[in-house]
Amino acid sequence: IFGNINGTMSMENKEPMLRDGALKDKVVVITGGGTGLGRGMAEHCLRLGAKVCITSRKQEVLDKAAKEMTANDGEVFTFSCDVRDAEQVEKLRTATIERFGKVDALVNNAAGNFISPTERLSSKAFQTVIDIVLMGTVNCTLAFGKGWIADKQKDKTILNIVTTYAWTGSGYVVPSACAKAGVLAMTRSLAVEWGKYGIRCNAVAPGPFPTKGAWSRLLPGEM
Ligand code: HXC
Ligand code: NAP
Repeated sequence: IFGNINGTMSMENKEPMLRDGALKDKVVVITGGGTGLGRGMAEHCLRLGAKVCITSRKQEVLDKAAKEMTANDGEVFTFSCDVRDAEQVEKLRTATIERFGKVDALVNNAAGNFISPTERLSSKAFQTVIDIVLMGTVNCTLAFGKGWIADKQKDKTILNIVTTYAWTGSGYVVPSACAKAGVLAMTRSLAVEWGKYGIRCNAVAPGPFPTKGAWSRLLPGEM
């Protein structure tokens, strides 16, 4: 934001936030990396020089995204993995290390969500969202974090994607709000606990973005 001499403000985006090559030779794993914000982050990491692993349940979505992303340049590895399943997550870790030799950063972006009055939710509906958002983040964090700690690897990063309602709560998306608040608590806890191992733990909380995944599930009809 630049103020001019008349005191009015204008927004200009002339320079990218990070310098070219800022992520050169870094290996970044992004869950839910084949669609929406995950894909956007994957493309940005690639532009900054990283090697990227995108993972989610649907291999065909991942393969299509990888092909499009690497049309010009860059290396993307795809691996189908359900983050709810700790064994699959461990296989994801092993496969990425086999492919790239290491992992520098984990982006916990995969999520599940839908809009519903809470009194209409079954226990299973609640559990479904908690399992993807909270337990998926837990499974990935434990797998990659334990690996880094056991191998005494430092300068590692975990980036969790939460939402603004992780702080405030939100009606009609209560399972997601509870799960994201849990992810936020874990982020803050491990930022302290794992700092001594050289593992940084951060979260970003986007406001509403009109991705297909979110808008198809969260907009209440014709409103
Ligand atoms: C009430 C619902 C429901 C709904 C599903 N359920 N949708 N209940 N209202 N709209 C219930 C089902 O009835 C069932 O319970 C249980 O949830 C499991 O449903 P399944 O369809 O079997 O689940 P599954 O196939 O595992 O699919 C998971 C999903 C789906 C979360 C329901 O939407 C999904 O795969 N989502 C992934 C991507 C996604 O959600 N992206 C949006 C992220 S947006 P019963 O008891 O009937 O068996 C986001 C934005 C945050 O996070 C911030 C915005 C500002
Ligand atoms: P999206 O495109 O639907 O992304 C969700 C991704 O998670 C999909 O690629 C999905 O792929 C994957 N996923 C779901 N369940 C999974 C599972 N069990 N295992 C592995 N992967 C799974 O939605 P988005 O809008 O980009 O959201 C991305 C992140 O941003 C989420 O954490 C969301 O909460 C957050 N966010 C979004 C908004 C917004 O307004 N869009 C706002 C704030 C925060 P598969 O179906 O192939 O598994």
